[in-house]
Amino acid sequence: MKILVTGGMGYIGSHTVVELQNAGFEVVIVDDLSNSSADIRDAIAQITGIKPVLEVFDLIDKEKTQDFFKRHNDIKGVIHFAAKKAVGESVQKPLTYYRNNLESLINVLEGMNENNISNFVFSSSCTVYGQPDELPVSESAPIKKAESPYGNTKQISEDIIFDTIKVTDLKAIALRYFNPIGAHETALIGELPLGVPDNLLPYVTQTAIGIREKLNVFGEDYNTPDGTAIRDYIHVVDLAKAHVIAVQRMIDNEMKKDFEVFNLGTGNGFSVLEVIKSFEKVTGLKLNYQIVGRRAGDVEQVWADSSFSNKELGWKAEKGLDEMTGSAWMWEQAYRQKT
Ligand code: UFG
Repeated sequence: MKILVTGGMGYIGSHTVVELQNAGFEVVIVDDLSNSSADIRDAIAQITGIKPVLEVFDLIDKEKTQDFFKRHNDIKGVIHFAAKKAVGESVQKPLTYYRNNLESLINVLEGMNENNISNFVFSSSCTVYGQPDELPVSESAPIKKAESPYGNTKQISEDIIFDTIKVTDLKAIALRYFNPIGAHETALIGELPLGVPDNLLPYVTQTAIGIREKLNVFGEDYNTPDGTAIRDYIHVVDLAKAHVIAVQRMIDNEMKKDFEVFNLGTGNGFSVLEVIKSFEKVTGLKLNYQIVGRRAGDVEQVWADSSFSNKELGWKAEKGLDEMTGSAWMWEQAYRQKT
C-alpha cells in the first residue's frame, strides 16, 4: 500500500518513513530538501533495507504537484509534514510562512481530491493551545490566538482541512505534537538543525560537543517547581509510530468522524533544568549553561492529556526522558564523526 510522505526527508518525516516501511507500507517521499539532506535516503535504506522513492520539488508549485498526483494516483494515504517550522523566523518572514505552509497544503488537498485520494494525516502542533487554562491540555481545550505566524499557519491549516472535509470525500487526522526530541536508536537519522538551533535539545547536544560555547536557559522565574519552563518532550520514534497507526486507522475505516484530532505527548512535563540533568546523567558530561532572561513568546508550562490518543489509537509513548536525551547525544556524535 503506497503512502505519500511530504517532507519525508526531514526530522519527524524520516523517522516516520522508517516506521511505515517497517510496517510494510510502500513510501513515496516528496521533499524540496530545503531543510534536509539527500543522504537521509541512504540512512533510511540502511535501517530498513528499502530505499524510498524520492521526488524533489516544492509543493507550492501547483503544476508539479498536479503532475505528481496524476503519476501516483494509486496512493492510499498522505502524511503531510512539509512545512516551515521555525517560530522566530516566521515572525520575521510572515508572508514566506503563510505562502509556503498554506499554498502547499492547498495544492496537496487539491491533488488528492482530483485523484480520489481521501486519507490525510496532518502534522499539527500543541502550539494551537497557547498557554492553556487547564493542565494537562486535552484536545477539547480552546484554540488560543497564535503567538506567531508559524503557529497561525497550523491553526489555519486545521481550518482549511475541516472546511474541505465538509464538501469532499476527504477524511483527516490532525496530530498535535508536543515537543519531539531524540533520534533513531541506530543514530543514522536524527534532527539536523540549519545554523544556530532554536530548540533546546539540539542546542544542548551542540554545546556538549563543542560547537556552541554555552546553553542559555531562558528564564528561571516561572511559576514552576524549579522556576524554568515545562514542556512535554516526546521521543521522535514514539511520535513516528503514531503516524503509522493513524494511517492504518483511516485505511481500515475505523475513524469515528471525518476529522479527528489527537494530542501526541507523553503526558509528563519536564522543566528545562530537568532535561539538562537527564542529559548530564545519561552522558556523564557536565553541560556549560547559564540562566538568562525569558525568551519572548514562550509559554510557561504545557503538557498533554494523552488519554484520548491512548484509548482511541491504542498508542502510548513508551520512551522516557533519559532515552530521549541519550539518543539525541548518540546522534550528535555519530553525525559529527561523518562530517
Ligand atoms: N530553551 C532554552 N534554551 C534554548 C532553547 C530552548 O532554555 O537555547 C527552552 C525554551 O525557553 C523552552 C524549552 O526550552 O522553555 C523548549 O524550547 P524549544 O524551543 O525546544 O521548544 P518550544 O516549546 O518553544 O517550541 C516547540 C516547537 C515549535 C512548536 C512549539 C509548540 O519548536 O515548533 O513547541 O509549543 F510550535
